[in-house]
Amino acid sequence: MKNLDADNVTEAVVASFRRTRDERLRRILESLVRHLHGFAREVRLTPAEWKAAIDFLYAAGRISDERRNEFVLASDVLGLSALVDLLNRPEGATESSELGPFYNPDSPWVPLGADIVRGAAGGERVLVRGRVTDTAGRAIAGALLDFWQAAPSGLYPAQDPAQPADNLRGRMRTDEQGRYAFVTVKPGPYTVPYDGPVGALLRAGGRDAWRPAHFHFIVSADGHVPVVTELFPADDPHLEKDAVFGVRASLVFRYVRHETAEAAAPYLVEPPFYSVDFDFRLAPA
Ligand SMILES: [Fe+2]
Repeated sequence: MKNLDADNVTEAVVASFRRTRDERLRRILESLVRHLHGFAREVRLTPAEWKAAIDFLYAAGRISDERRNEFVLASDVLGLSALVDLLNRPEGATESSELGPFYNPDSPWVPLGADIVRGAAGGERVLVRGRVTDTAGRAIAGALLDFWQAAPSGLYPAQDPAQPADNLRGRMRTDEQGRYAFVTVKPGPYTVPYDGPVGALLRAGGRDAWRPAHFHFIVSADGHVPVVTELFPADDPHLEKDAVFGVRASLVFRYVRHETAEAAAPYLVEPPFYSVDFDFRLAPA
């Protein structure tokens, strides 16, 4: 029997996975073990600190349900979600960003130019419009846009009994020129949930829980890599310290104010209103 000590235990665990059939999985498990052990060695992790980490994971499981995933939030605030996004971005395509916990795959289908405000949301009116193209700039007709956002209050319908369930979301296909457009209100910034273990982590780290306001999009088309992303207004005070590291310079836009209805043509928006003009680029699959 080999005597295990702090120097050889890592190799013993790595060796225990050597019969993993899936080569990629074996590589991931070996690297995971080496980095976990390396981390514990580097900080000389104590039993009490190890227990605190286990308690954190246990609490994350306890507070998670089908509407809330504390593990995703933990990944987000540690920047792991952002890193995985950044490592996997297709060349030339619109940058991706967080999916977030409020995506609902059954948003109502709406026509080009539709108003997606289904309750009394208040707030300033916005026309969001642009085109979907490939990386060479050619229009993609029939591309699918799935979009959702928080109300000016910063709340999603799932968090707010005052909003109809289908408020501020929709699905749309681009026209022959690759155009999309919808009418909505400015979303408000909000905090990520901080009543669970991730909130305790943020407080311990002296961080705040704010995210800048944003519009969520999933843009997809046959033969192309779908993009999950968010658009952020340049004037948001939380842009520099997004709790989940989702902001990319290429995803920041400026609201343009308009005083006449003609500025919205061919769509109908009562002035004054703001416009957001943003084109999405999809890479070939
Ligand atoms: Fe969001």
